[in-house]
Amino acid sequence: MKILITGGAGFVGSHLADKLIGQGHDITVIDDLSTGRYSNVEHLEGTKHFRLIIDTVLNEKLMEELIRETDHVYHMASAVGVRLIMEHPVKTIETIFRGTDVVLGFCSRYRKRVLIPSTSEVYGKSATVPFKEDDDLLTGPTDKHRWAYACAKTLDEFLALAHWKETRLPVVVVRLFNTVGPRQTGQYGMVVPRFVEAALTNETIEVHGDGTQSRCFGHVLDIVEGLTKLLDNTACFGQVINLGNDEEVTIKQLADKAILLAASSSKIRFVPYDEAYGEGFEDMQRRVPSLAKAGRLIGYKPTRTLDDIINDVAAEFRKDSAGQSKNVAN
Ligand SMILES: NC(=O)c1ccc[n+]([C@@H]2O[C@H](COP(=O)([O-])OP(=O)(O)OC[C@H]3O[C@@H](n4cnc5c(N)ncnc54)[C@H](O)[C@@H]3O)[C@@H](O)[C@H]2O)c1
Repeated sequence: MKILITGGAGFVGSHLADKLIGQGHDITVIDDLSTGRYSNVEHLEGTKHFRLIIDTVLNEKLMEELIRETDHVYHMASAVGVRLIMEHPVKTIETIFRGTDVVLGFCSRYRKRVLIPSTSEVYGKSATVPFKEDDDLLTGPTDKHRWAYACAKTLDEFLALAHWKETRLPVVVVRLFNTVGPRQTGQYGMVVPRFVEAALTNETIEVHGDGTQSRCFGHVLDIVEGLTKLLDNTACFGQVINLGNDEEVTIKQLADKAILLAASSSKIRFVPYDEAYGEGFEDMQRRVPSLAKAGRLIGYKPTRTLDDIINDVAAEFRKDSAGQSKNVAN
């Protein structure tokens, strides 16, 4: 099959490209490299089944051509990361909503199967865990920019489901919970790569807030397997489905684990949210997915643990820094 991955030079998208190429598909990636990296897909360049186009999903003429000639679309392009969202709220909303509108519009015109990733952020401040797909969503006021990401993704969900309702567009909406693993950059505020890198270099680990807030971290390889199964299953069309891992850990425990597994001498410093993200930042205390629906529809069950994740991320950092020292030595 011909498959288009928008944002395919990003973290999740590039692992998805690896997986789908492994299944024998022809992959086209469109990415503007705003948060993605060429190095994530460099190993695929030059192979017969891979093509990289560096451009934006807001280029409608190009997107029409690409979607018309493809079979399935994974729309992974998005503005992501809390830091980016706090610093560039306009770009966040435009990229998310306008990008998804373009993709859904052409998928609808040419009747193409499409997966739209949403996020656990849409559950907002809800404190009733685990979060189920039909729960009420509880976001904050519009002058708190953090919620722009959640609300733009919520609007994407509404639009996708509206296309399903009106014309039966074969669309699947997936709410991703924290997804981590090799290739994720800590540059935009992602917690696992930040902590692991600090632990490996014995630098201070900065925990935002008091560290009692908890998250559930899913290994990217479990996630991409789930994504491909969801889009391959016609029973998932018109559905919203959580995907992630339901093993909960506090951010302080995560920092301790990174220190332990890296045999590090790093110390932990607690940084108030206001200092990290500016005044009025709101965070959620817990975010645990119910994975019952994904289990029912595709037999989804994560197989990789947090230790696997930290070890894989640490192995990548070690490999990268060994490569860099070799280059310096040369
Ligand atoms: N990683 C997570 O924990 C997580 C959690 C929830 C949801 N998601 C969703 O999963 C998807 C992929 O996220 P990721 O973690 O791989 O982030 P990422 O930043 O690594 O990937 C996003 C990619 O989109 C590209 N991009 C951004 N704007 C673009 C544009 N206008 N045109 C073309 N490409 C553009 C970026 O360059 C990047 O390569 C996103 O939709 C994100 O909202 C991720």
